[in-house]
Order: sequence, then C-alpha cells, then structure tokens
Amino acid sequence: MTVKIFASALEAAEALAAALVDELRVRPHLVMALPTGSTPLPMYAALRRTAADEPQLLAQARTFNLDEFAGVPAGDPASYRSYMERELFQPTGMSARQVGFLDGCADDLEAECDRYERQIAGAGGLDVAVLGLGGNGHIGFNEPASVLQARTHITTLEPTTRLANARWFGHDLNRVPHRALSMGVGTLLGARRIMLMATGAGKRRAVSELRSGRVTTQVPASLLQCHPAVTLWLDRDAATY
Ligand code: F6R
Repeated sequence: MTVKIFASALEAAEALAAALVDELRVRPHLVMALPTGSTPLPMYAALRRTAADEPQLLAQARTFNLDEFAGVPAGDPASYRSYMERELFQPTGMSARQVGFLDGCADDLEAECDRYERQIAGAGGLDVAVLGLGGNGHIGFNEPASVLQARTHITTLEPTTRLANARWFGHDLNRVPHRALSMGVGTLLGARRIMLMATGAGKRRAVSELRSGRVTTQVPASLLQCHPAVTLWLDRDAATY
C-alpha cells in the first residue's frame, strides 16, 4: 500500500485528479469506478478544469459509480446520479453511453445489481477504483458487518451513514433512505488499481484501522490491505495517528 500525505484536503484531491488525468492521457479508454460524497468534490472540480482545456480527455472513458440510494429517482437532486451529472458528466460533456449507474428505483433491485455486475464485466472490468472512506470504515456502501457481500447488492445504511448523508436531503434525516445499492467488496478488489481518498480528522480512526495489518469485515476498508495496488491519498488530519 502506498500512502501519500498532503498538507490540505484540497491538495490531496487535486493530486489525485492529476494522477487520474495522467492515466487518462495514456489510456483514454480507462474504466473508472467513481465515488460521490464531500471528499471528491475538489477532485471533480480539478477534472472539470483540465477537461475544459483538453476536451478529448474523457471522451472515451467509461465510468461506474460505486453506489446509489434505493428509492431515490435518478432525477431527484439528492440522488448520486444527480450529483455526478452536476459535478462531472454534464460539465465535461460525457454521454449516457459512457456512464454506468445503478438505478435505485428499478422494479427488481436484485436484478438491477446483477445487471450492473454484467455491465462492468462487459466493459472489461475496472481499471481504476477511486474510493472515499466512511468514518466507520465503509467503502462504497459496504458497511461494517459480520459478513460482507462480494458483488453488487442491496445494503442497509448505518445510522451514522444516514446522518452523514442527510445534507443531500435538505438535512432532513427522515428523507434519507435506509437502503442503497452498492458494488461489493469483490467488485472493488477486482479493480486493477485502487485510489482511496480520505481527508479530515473524522477519517483518522478509519485510516488507522485500514492500515493496521488486521483484516476485518467490521472495517470493510481493511480488506484493501489484500489488494496489490492501493494508494491512499490523505491530508494531514486524516493521516495523523
Ligand atoms: C459514496 C461512497 C461512500 C463515501 C464515504 C465518504 O459514493 O461510496 O463510501 O465515499 O461515505 O463520504 P464523504 O466524502 O462525504 O465523507
């Protein structure tokens, strides 16, 4: 595991964006798994700026987002799909055929999870998975549990995760879904490279546990220690332990 520590969250996010841009210049057909959340916002801002100067940068890339809320329509401003449309897809002109997304309102959610796995496999698998980190050690929406799911699945969100996501729902906890769809840990570990970003003191304990040498389903991110090509992009606050 490679660890990169930056003076600020902004520098960490911009450095990660620069690394992705380098990768995209070499491999324009890059298949990326992408996160939502607060941490990657400056990364998407940096990607938008570079793509404005290099319109071809993302023209052939494929993306698959890590997760989506169950029961929230794609067009709802609180959906992760809407977040991605705002932060990356529309400003950079990415087309629908480049974008893989879970439909949290599909009639049959289990079939939707299977469809997503097939779509990822059909794209040749994930070249790079960019991940955030939950304060509780989750990756994607793989929450701490005695048993983790390998593949894309329906997941129940922990109270702390629902609270952390209330900001997308006007800070109204009652509106935050209890369930979501998420890539599984096997889907994520199948990526050829993993880039995890974590910033702020609230992530310090999870970062420490994910580097502890112990692997436990109670800290899903700790499974990343079994992957041969993981880089952590941290700011000082998340890295001090
Ligand atoms: C979101 C996701 C989550 C977040 C994590 C951190 O798509 O997969 O694992 O990365 O909850 O969220 P922030 O960055 O908001 O602290």
